[in-house]
Amino acid sequence: MYDLAALEAALAETIFAGNLHFSGSTGSTNSDAMAAARNGAPHGSVFFADEQTAGRGRGDHAWHSAVAQGLYVSVLLRLSIPSEHMPLLPLAAGLAAAAAVRAASGLTVDLRWPNDLLIGPRKTGGILVESQSERGRLGFAVAGIGINVHQQSFAADLATPATSLDLESGRWIDRQPLLIALLEALERETGALLDPGAIRTIPDRVAQGSTWVRGREVEVHGPQACTGVTDGLDENGFLRVRTAAGVVQIQTGGIRAIG
Ligand code: BTN
Repeated sequence: MYDLAALEAALAETIFAGNLHFSGSTGSTNSDAMAAARNGAPHGSVFFADEQTAGRGRGDHAWHSAVAQGLYVSVLLRLSIPSEHMPLLPLAAGLAAAAAVRAASGLTVDLRWPNDLLIGPRKTGGILVESQSERGRLGFAVAGIGINVHQQSFAADLATPATSLDLESGRWIDRQPLLIALLEALERETGALLDPGAIRTIPDRVAQGSTWVRGREVEVHGPQACTGVTDGLDENGFLRVRTAAGVVQIQTGGIRAIG
């Protein structure tokens, strides 16, 4: 159970103060945040739930969101950044989620480009960023983050095998400090997008926190489907993949290990 009064108190000095919206059950917190954004909700509005009945993942996948088993949270961001910096936002959210998992559980997350949270070969969280641009600048973005916390078993049909923080740590990980750490880290990491010095560090820090960004034989899914070996991130956060036909800069999609 979340203690909403304690959450408000812990986040009183952040952009999220007075902007926390909790539902026992909802379709999708991302859909809630997108609707609120269109109705003028402010920067830093947070939508989180105990259960999602229509949780959404990237690439039209469903995100299983059983009652009180995971963290299901979406944050509305109104950042005045040019559209070309947008691909760095999911990476920044991945850095924030990895920092929060480390702070709340001691576990180290491996970031699979662009923003899957893995522990070893298993997925423990994912991020769905949805946005709307206006005249070459970001109008608003919703960063939706799902983290498996208490699950002990998973659906059999998942593209990547799954795990949870409880399974990996061998103990009960409380969702409340995890949520606080996540929101604090999100404020810090998304703030970096507005700082010309800090923004340049994002691809490097993702590369440091990932075994996937360099030297991995992968299959790329999405509009730029190909196979090859990962060869680092460029300053826009795009993934370079060395293929038989040369180096391709992957702008969108996902990767899976080959072999
Ligand atoms: C993925 O790995 O495919 C992304 C999963 C994102 C799931 C989160 S849970 C909170 C928010 N609401 C949604 O419907 N999706 C995101």
